[in-house]
Amino acid sequence: MRGVILAGGLGTRLDPLTRVTNKHLLPVYNKPMIYYPIQTLVDAGITDIMLVTGGNSAGDFLRLLGNGADFGLKHINYTYQKGEGGIAAALSLAEHFAEEDKIVVILGDNIVERNIKGAVERFETQAEGARILIKEVRDPERFGVVELAGDAIVGIEEKPARPKSPYIVTGIYMYDRQVFEIIKTLRPSGRGELEITDVNNYYIKKNRMKYEILEGWWTDAGTFESLYRASALVAEQGT
Ligand code: DAU
Repeated sequence: MRGVILAGGLGTRLDPLTRVTNKHLLPVYNKPMIYYPIQTLVDAGITDIMLVTGGNSAGDFLRLLGNGADFGLKHINYTYQKGEGGIAAALSLAEHFAEEDKIVVILGDNIVERNIKGAVERFETQAEGARILIKEVRDPERFGVVELAGDAIVGIEEKPARPKSPYIVTGIYMYDRQVFEIIKTLRPSGRGELEITDVNNYYIKKNRMKYEILEGWWTDAGTFESLYRASALVAEQGT
């Protein structure tokens, strides 16, 4: 299976830190943020990846990561997202790279404690559709919030004022080839982005979405609070 890391966008929530560099190059404890999602994919056995960058300092990713061999990657491909068209818009840039393979997608600011290899292997044996990893959090209104009916996911709401559950969609998504056709049907949301939540809701409506609860801690790192928490969690883990 191939991996896609989405590290586009402008990181405006971290201004002025992101004024002269890229959010995903900022430090999380003792490493640049982008190291963590790369390591998550490598640990899950995925060594053929595409990195979608954007915004400032895109060339610095090449200087930092080179051909990826230091991480144990077999291939690393780079592409550039202009502007901030949304997570689904960034993912659409990986269509040629994915070819006919299923893909594992991870957001460049998502940091996890544990290995996701088990979930990736279960997706490998899944005949079709998508699989997401969800997590219970204290501030669900900041994320895509899952609505559950019993054990089934019935929908996802992006940043709702009144969350229907404490479970949110982490930035780790697994898709079959159909994802690129779904993205082509999307219209920009109120915030002017092609939303990954719309992609996921499509799979849910078609009964082709599976989910698992992610084990261990998880955080994003796109706000001052979460960036600080990410560093603290990594430091406590003692890596
Ligand atoms: O972290 C999980 C959350 O990520 C999900 O729960 C939400 O459903 C999902 O929409 C997303 O929410 P955020 O508002 O936190 O996403 P943000 O705009 O901060 O972007 C997260 C990463 O996605 C960012 O570090 C790089 C990538 N991205 C984002 C945008 C908007 C791109 O590559 N291109 C983009 O245009």
